[in-house]
Amino acid sequence: MKEDKHSRWFELEYVPEDYIFSKEDRPQNLDRSVCYSVPVIDLENPKAAIGQSQPVEEILKASEEFGFFQVINHGIPEKTVNDAMSVLKEFFDMQSKDTAGIIPHKKGYIYTSSTDFVKNGVHLWRENIKHPCHPLEECIHLWPDNPIRYQEVIAAYLVEIQKLSSRILEMICEGLELKQGYFKDKSEVQLLSSNFYPPCPDPSLTLGILPHHDPSFITLLYQGGSTGLQVMKDGQWVNVGANPNAFVVNIGNQLEIISNRKLKSIEHRVVTSTHETRLSIATFVNPSPDCIIEPAKHLVNDLEPSLYTASQYKDYVHRNNAFGDYTTAIQNALRSES
Ligand code: OGA
Ligand code: NI
Repeated sequence: MKEDKHSRWFELEYVPEDYIFSKEDRPQNLDRSVCYSVPVIDLENPKAAIGQSQPVEEILKASEEFGFFQVINHGIPEKTVNDAMSVLKEFFDMQSKDTAGIIPHKKGYIYTSSTDFVKNGVHLWRENIKHPCHPLEECIHLWPDNPIRYQEVIAAYLVEIQKLSSRILEMICEGLELKQGYFKDKSEVQLLSSNFYPPCPDPSLTLGILPHHDPSFITLLYQGGSTGLQVMKDGQWVNVGANPNAFVVNIGNQLEIISNRKLKSIEHRVVTSTHETRLSIATFVNPSPDCIIEPAKHLVNDLEPSLYTASQYKDYVHRNNAFGDYTTAIQNALRSES
């Protein structure tokens, strides 16, 4: 490592031992070509305006087949997104060698750098900041105040995410033929988790995020124009195409439960790159804590019995340590219950 005070844990020409995953955990296939592309859905499709609810059908189909889709013409101003990306980039750039080696828990956020041990003492090739977002007015002051614009810019971003996620949940509600407004008082944009993945000297040894399922209703992810996100499809890791105009949306475990596994919460991970820096913003739209999550009654019948038992969301989170170290804990959570 360069010894000036600005050098960071990732500025090395080799992968340190404690970042090397065991053979079984390493990414086997690093082909970054997009083989099946995750469906890209245009929310302003003109056919929708004349009463044909085409995005609804596309969203349902993608959620059944992939558990993932991308939305374009989503209505979130480009400036709001670019501002959020640049303020997060500044935040990560400000972290120095001095903050590596500890996990600062400031009142309302967690920042992890190279202390992020995830499996058998191995680190992920990333830095991460997480903080709660709901209710916005009560959380905003707990977030980083440096960069100085952080709170204002991220709050503006979250207001837009709230609107877009409500729209998407409404479409899912229509597609599943649930009661209108089913998710309205049940869903909250509860958590923001942003990841900074620096270039890595040898991506075959490391991972940005281990394979996991999200514990949310849905997750909205902005990944700029970068690659590295992979989803499991028919037993293979498939690359999600980079589209700076799109948000990636995925179905989380709670929606898989409500839909009685009609919609799929699919495993995903992030691989590293020798040349590309990846910055992502994941926002988790979750049930409110007291909400009871169980398969919707009309999706359960003699032929399709309920695959899950009812559980309050807060108990689910507690049982599965879902947002503690959810990247590892969640893998065991849902599937072992059903
Ligand atoms: C997550 C996640 C992907 C990314 O935070 O759950 O899957 O690109 N993030 O950071
Ligand atoms: Ni995820």
